[in-house]
Amino acid sequence: MRLDKYLCHNASITRSEAKKAIKKKQITVNDKIITDPSLHITLDQEVCINDTPLKHLGTQYLMLYKPSGFISSTEDSHYPTVIDLIDQPARGLHPAGRLDVDTTGLVLLTNDGQWAHKVTSPNHECKKRYLVTLDREITDQAIEMLNDGIYFKSEERKTRPASVKVIESTLVELTISEGMFHQVKRMFAATDNEVIELHRSQIGEITLDSNLEPGEYRPLTQHEIESIH
Ligand code: URA
Repeated sequence: MRLDKYLCHNASITRSEAKKAIKKKQITVNDKIITDPSLHITLDQEVCINDTPLKHLGTQYLMLYKPSGFISSTEDSHYPTVIDLIDQPARGLHPAGRLDVDTTGLVLLTNDGQWAHKVTSPNHECKKRYLVTLDREITDQAIEMLNDGIYFKSEERKTRPASVKVIESTLVELTISEGMFHQVKRMFAATDNEVIELHRSQIGEITLDSNLEPGEYRPLTQHEIESIH
């Protein structure tokens, strides 16, 4: 079978994605970079994408350092998406939970729907930690309100108790276990304050890798994948 066709069948990518990957020299056959999409592949050969053998491709789990200006979805007519930052076949890859376009930090991407559900579903209480830069100094009363939960009129319920660690008077770490629409910004707005900058540093036990620059990503380790349950 031709190499490009073989990639479509075994890596679940389109013919044009396969051709692109070949052109970008991401494909090796028996450790040799192959640039000819028509090369005949036999069953005894090992085909790799970015050094990953195809038989190991299957499900993907990545952590991405989302820069500001990118949207957490798979397509958008206004903004570049987090998927545009992924420089490898990304068929079926989705962000597990959303950050606002101006929020930076940790985004998990996967094509494993059940795993993503555990990250996002409030029932699994997967904690998300944010570094929040505020317009005004945080008050004791605001901390009490955040700890207690804040009533959101449109959802007709209170947010779950949040924990607050004050780093500086206008810089706090907020940990929440749900992901309501613009939740952090709305929680601080209810305390008569405004979020100036928002950065997600942690999801469950997975911390944003300090070696990643904005826009970079890496695969999750087995330990990180299994920490979401
Ligand atoms: N809460 C917000 O308000 N924005 C985000 O991007 C994430 C949490």
